[in-house]
Amino acid sequence: MNWSWNTFFFGVYPFIAGTIFLLGSVIRYEREQYGWSSYSSQLLASKHYMMWASNLWHVGILTLFLGHFTGFLTNILEWLGANPVEHQWIAASAGITAGVVAMIGGVMLLLRRVLDPKVRYASRSMDIFILVWLLITLTFGLITQFVSVPDAISGHVQDMEILIRYVRSIAIFQPDPQLIVNIPMIYKIHMLCGMTVFLLFPFSRLVHIWTVPFNYLIRPYQLVRAKMRSVI
Ligand code: HEM
Repeated sequence: MNWSWNTFFFGVYPFIAGTIFLLGSVIRYEREQYGWSSYSSQLLASKHYMMWASNLWHVGILTLFLGHFTGFLTNILEWLGANPVEHQWIAASAGITAGVVAMIGGVMLLLRRVLDPKVRYASRSMDIFILVWLLITLTFGLITQFVSVPDAISGHVQDMEILIRYVRSIAIFQPDPQLIVNIPMIYKIHMLCGMTVFLLFPFSRLVHIWTVPFNYLIRPYQLVRAKMRSVI
C-alpha cells in the first residue's frame, strides 16, 4: 500500500473509527450504565413542535442509513433490474428527499436546544456537538449531489461505481484507498465526516441506538391493573 494522507484517511482511519465505535460502546455499556440514555428533552418542549422535529429527523436519518446500506453494501437495485445510471437516479432522489427531511428536523432540534433556556440548561456540550456534527455531515452529503446529479444526467456514473467498490473494500477488511485518489474532494470530506460520526458515537447520546426497545412493537399489552372482584 502506497503511504500518503489518502492512505491514512481512507485506508486506516475507517478502522480506527470502527474500533472505537465497537470497543467504546462495549466499555461504555459495561462501565456507565447510568449514563446510557438518549437524554431526551421531550418533556421540556412543546409537544407539537417536538413531534414534528423528532419525527422528521428520525425518519430522514433512518431512511439515509437504509439507503447508504442498501446502495453501498447490497445489490438489491441491480437484482431489481436497475442499471448503474438508474441506480444513481434512485440514490439521488431518495437520498436528497431524506436528506432535506432530516435537515429540517435536525435544524428544528438544534434551534430548540440552543434557544430554549430549559433545554439548553439540561443539555451537555456533547449533545449539541453531536447534533451539529450530524448536520455538517448531512450538509456535505447533500452538496455531493451537485456532482452526482450532473453525472446521472450525463450518464457518466463511474464515480459512483468507484465509491461503491471502495466502501465494499472497507466492509470486507481489504481497504483499497487508491481507488478513490482521484474522486472529487466533496465525496472525501463527506465520507470523513460520516466515519467520524462512528468515532464520536460511544461518547455521545447516540448510544441509545444500541438499545432501542424494538420489543415494544411486538410485546403483548401490559395488564396494569387487574379487575378485582368485590370482596364483600
Ligand atoms: C461512513 C459513513 C458514510 C459514508 C462512507 C458515506 C458516503 C456517501 C457517499 C459516497 C455519498 C454520495 C453518493 C452518490 O451520490 O454517489 C453520500 C451521500 C449522502 N450522504 Fe453519506 N456517507 C456516510 C455517512 C452519512 C451520514 C452519517 C449522513 C447523515 C448525517 C449522510 C448523509 C448523506 C446524504 C444526505 C447524501 C446525499 C443523498 C444520497 O445520495 O443519499 N451520510 N454518502
